[in-house]
Formats: sequence, C-alpha cells, structure tokens
Amino acid sequence: MESRDILILAIESSCDETAAAVVRNGREVLSNVIASQIVLHTQFGGVVPEIASRKHIEKINQVITSALAKAQVSLDDITAVGVTYGPGLVGALLVGVAEAKAIAYGAQKPLVGVHHIEGHVAANFLKKDSLDHRPDLEPPFVCLIVSGGHTHLVVVKDYGAFEIIGRTRDDAAGEAFDKVARAVGLGYPGGPKVDQAARKGNPHAIEFPRAKVEGSPYDFSFSGLKSAVLNYINHAKMAGDKISVPDLAASFQNAVVEALVSRAVQAAKEYGYDKLAIAGGVASNSALRAAMAKACQENGVEFYYPEPIFCTDNAAMIGAAAYYEYKKGTRHGWDLNAVPDLKLGER
Ligand code: KG4
Ligand code: ZN
Repeated sequence: MESRDILILAIESSCDETAAAVVRNGREVLSNVIASQIVLHTQFGGVVPEIASRKHIEKINQVITSALAKAQVSLDDITAVGVTYGPGLVGALLVGVAEAKAIAYGAQKPLVGVHHIEGHVAANFLKKDSLDHRPDLEPPFVCLIVSGGHTHLVVVKDYGAFEIIGRTRDDAAGEAFDKVARAVGLGYPGGPKVDQAARKGNPHAIEFPRAKVEGSPYDFSFSGLKSAVLNYINHAKMAGDKISVPDLAASFQNAVVEALVSRAVQAAKEYGYDKLAIAGGVASNSALRAAMAKACQENGVEFYYPEPIFCTDNAAMIGAAAYYEYKKGTRHGWDLNAVPDLKLGER
C-alpha cells in the first residue's frame, strides 16, 4: 500500500442490501461485500422496511469485518469512513450511519456522508475488467440514473456536482419493472426476471404507448405504460386468451428502453457532451445496455456503464463517491443523521 493512497471503508444500507467495501483512490475496488435480503422480502412481494432494518443490524458487523479482511487491510490503514445517509428507508439508513459513526469515532477517522444516487453515478468510476482499455471516465458527462426509486437524467458537471435536466413524473423505471413483473407472476425483484423472460420474447409483439411529457423533452412517465400493460392482461384474462409472458416482457421492456435511450442520447447531443453513462439497478438491464451502446455509437457519443454488480446497490460505489467528496473536503460530524428524502446536491 502506497502511503499516499486514500483508502475508503464504505457502508451502504439504504434499502435491502447490507454492504461494505474498501476502495483505493476512488477507482480500485479492494473488496465488495454484499449481504442481500432479497430472498427474505420475496415472500412479501417487496421490501418490508421493519424487516430490512433488523436484518441490517444482524449483518452489518460481519459484512464490514469481511470487507476489511478481503481487502487485507485493518482499520488503521483506512483514510476515511464513507456511508450512505440518504435517500432511502430511514430505519435501514440509520443502521449504516450509526455503524459508520461508531467506527470512525473509535478509529479516529474522518466521516464522509454520501448521497445514495451520487454513489450510483460514481459506480462508473470503478475500474472494469482488463478488456476495457478506455481511459477512466471523468466529468463532465451526461448520466441516466435508473433505479428502483429514481429516474433522473443529469449532467455531471464535476465530481459530486449535478444539474438535473430530466426526471420521472410518476413511477421510477425500476418500479415499473417490478410492478409489471408482479402482475404477470414473475415475482420480486421484477427487473432481472423481466430481463430474463424478455430474451425469449418478441419486442414488437404488443404495441405499448410511448409516453411523452408535454413541454418537457427530458422528463419521463411510466405510469401510462404500466396501466397499458395491466389493461392488456385484464382484457386477455376476460377474453380467456393465453398471455405470452416472454412477448409481454419483451414488448414492455422495449417501450421503457426506447424512452430511456432516446431522451438520454438527445440530451447528450443537445447539451453538447460526448460521454454518456448509465447508473442504478436498471442499468444492468441487457436490452438497455445493448440499445444504449448502439445509439451512442450511431451518434458519436462514448458510452460508459458499470459492471452489473456495481449497478444494483453496493458499497463500492459509495466508496468511489466518498473518495471524491473527501478530496473536496467534505466531512460530517458525529451528529450526522439519516435523511430519507435527501435531495441530489444537498448536504
Ligand atoms: O439501484 P437499485 O439496486 O436500488 C435502488 O436504489 O432503488 O435498483 C433496484 C431496481 C429494482 O427495481 C430492480 O427490479 C431493478 O433495479 N433492476 C432491473 C434489473 N436488475 C435490477 N431492472 C431491469 N433489468 C434488470 N436486469
Ligand atoms: Zn440504489
């Protein structure tokens, strides 16, 4: 370990993943440990906040111990502790925040609170496999953030500096995936299940509406599409017709992907940026990645995307964001609290 290296121990517990990671100089993942609660919440068809908090408490110590061990470092080697303090489920966030404060206080290390979405964006800074020879992504660039709770189109002007140029008016993209999956009995979480089912389906089998938001070229709306899918299912049931789940999944996914890709690429061109990144759980969607790669290539825009494991919730992305915040001088006090509705760009 070089003495100038900055090592962040990062903690993430905003939803149903208890995660810890050690990241070197904001780019290199030394360890990335995730204890997922998905199986636990599946029986309820979604995340149960109370259960999530309890599980975080049970898991957090072992996840952190394991992250340090896998990185082969001790707390002494750590430069600062980074933690997600919002947005998310308040009881879930509190577990990570309390733990981070205790560790930082005990080890006398600086504490850096991180915005969860800034973390998702920073997943694009993490080094990928050796096959990717492109230079590291640096701001400015346009980023499409698509997760279970957020759908934002932003210009990343600098590390941790965002200008929001579009957002969803109703459901988040991931939420739409989850609701459609539930309606056709694919289970929770719906995104990966729809992605999988769609591979065997025809994306042009069913014509679903492409919603545009009047007067806001970069805003999204997915509730109309979701209703159209639910109506389609109800009509088919009433008529006694059999539904092809792969065709429905592929057609729905195609409508979402078209909306996301067209706006993101248009934004990059109109705002004059030649780099476009995607982030958040839905960024691991195979159809979105393929369509975005194609559209970017056709428009002379360089396309960046995190590895799938860094798209869904993890602590390595929080470590990357915390590194750049640390470099800017961001420090939080022992009074840091969980902020469930923290806005992007707020401190
Ligand atoms: O970023 P994330 O892990 O958590 C939030 O911060 O919300 O995103 C979770 C969301 C869920 O809605 C999940 O269904 C969706 O990301 N997702 C996907 C895929 N993998 C996860 N959606 C579409 N295709 C996927 N392959
Ligand atoms: Zn997330």
